[in-house]
Amino acid sequence: MEDIAEVLITAEELQARVAELGAQISADYAGKNPLLVGVLRGVFVFMADLVRAITIPIGVDFIGITSYDPTSRERGVVRFTKDLEVCIEGRHVLFVEDVIDTGLTLRYILRSLSTRRPASLRVCVLFDKPRTRLFDLPVDYTGFVLPDKFVVGYGLDYNEQYRNLPFVGVLKQEVIARANQHTAA
Ligand code: IMP
Ligand code: MG
Repeated sequence: MEDIAEVLITAEELQARVAELGAQISADYAGKNPLLVGVLRGVFVFMADLVRAITIPIGVDFIGITSYDPTSRERGVVRFTKDLEVCIEGRHVLFVEDVIDTGLTLRYILRSLSTRRPASLRVCVLFDKPRTRLFDLPVDYTGFVLPDKFVVGYGLDYNEQYRNLPFVGVLKQEVIARANQHTAA
């Protein structure tokens, strides 16, 4: 908690919005038994709450991709580290993501999923950062629109820390500077 400069979204606000998303998805997919596909690891907290806010039958699966390094200059290389276990051909797929920043990860994943011929493919994202978007991509369900700030908590990490915070916050500048020093050393 002493590393957090500012709480952007409280635990109560997160729960309220996730409940609304769950209700909307339940209504939109009634009778369709959709498959929710999440990207590890950042999405696991959101996904756990979202599925419990959904009142219709659903399936759940996960994919893994190479993690995004906020300090790295090598962006643009996206690679699968874990593929789906479930066949999505003919399924109504709802792709669930924690954050969309540049959109590079989402673009890569959507291309890959759409080649497997799902009956439909939609996107649900908890945090959208439209100001840093490089690719224009369709998002069907959005939890919160965020400013162009690096946030942690509710599944989101900085150097694999802070995922367990129940709220979403911005790190203090000195914490990031300290971590960068360690990385450089
Ligand atoms: P994109 O490919 O630039 O859209 O980045 C998306 C991925 O970067 C997300 O799935 C997150 O893992 C990570 N990411 C982007 N912004 C943040 C942030 O503010 N905090 C933590 N992770 C982030
Ligand atoms: Mg992620």
